[in-house]
Amino acid sequence: MKHFINLKDIPIKDLKKIIRDAKKRKKLRGKFNALETDRGAPLKGKMLIQMFEKASSRTRISFYLAIKQLGGGTLTLRTNELHLGQGGESIADTAKILSTYGDGFMLRSDSDKKVKDFEKYLSIPLINGLSPSSHPTQVLSDIFTVEEIKKKPISKLKICWIGDSNNVLNSLIAASVKFSFKLNIGCPKKFEPKKEIINWVKKNNKKVYIYNDPIKAVSDVDVIFSDKVISLNDKVNKKYKIQKFKKYRINKKLLNYAKKDCIFLHCLPRGDEIDEEVFLGKNSHVWQQASNRVHVQKSILLYCFEKLR
Ligand code: CP
Ligand code: NVA
Repeated sequence: MKHFINLKDIPIKDLKKIIRDAKKRKKLRGKFNALETDRGAPLKGKMLIQMFEKASSRTRISFYLAIKQLGGGTLTLRTNELHLGQGGESIADTAKILSTYGDGFMLRSDSDKKVKDFEKYLSIPLINGLSPSSHPTQVLSDIFTVEEIKKKPISKLKICWIGDSNNVLNSLIAASVKFSFKLNIGCPKKFEPKKEIINWVKKNNKKVYIYNDPIKAVSDVDVIFSDKVISLNDKVNKKYKIQKFKKYRINKKLLNYAKKDCIFLHCLPRGDEIDEEVFLGKNSHVWQQASNRVHVQKSILLYCFEKLR
């Protein structure tokens, strides 16, 4: 069994294997209906328990489809419906119970400590479906999307992030180290990535390029990523933060500084960080990006269940 918690802790050869498998599976599915099972039903009879402490549309639906297409099933829980959430039951006991009934556990948590505690007590694979510090399934899937559209390994492309130094960016930084791609980050000085993350990059003899000028950050890049300025449960002064990010809003003018065939990606949901014109424009591939999560998460599930060929 293998967990999928943070990209930085997963060997690059495994990450690449997941992407290769997703590519093959996506091709083989052709025009299958959403709930049709892949040939061989590799996860037949397996149950994935999903638990959400925060809202989710894409992660929850795409994992539902992923496990179904592999021949298994899923049960989706909200913490507040469990004894755990009602304050009575410990993580240790909850993890034991989840491991008794289920075969895998996907958790979206509002606490990195909880993710660690579940990892400690579970005897089934744990998948991090977004935590305050990372969103690894999203970013691995985004690498798949970039390579699918650009038809090149991501290591040959210049990537840019315009936005907050949040969980998605942390995973993108980890990916830039693992997959060796150039990453520019455009954000206000006050909202740059945490020192410990930059130190980890340095320890790995890599670099990310931080600019407090959005034009410099997007200049000549192949891909622009963005995300909401205010993440779920972000306990900041919202007015102040939104004001600080005003000049980082992605509009047509800013896009013109990137390569002509630059693509725009966004994990969604979106806020005010992007103009409608760009979001729905020809450079944007956000719907393809969202749908690819099913394919990549299937291969992540197979990896966790040690069924990846
Ligand atoms: N991108 C993403 O994880 O979306 P949800 O919050 O809807 O799951
Ligand atoms: N950074 C966002 C991602 C949502 C998928 C959040 O944590 O809310």
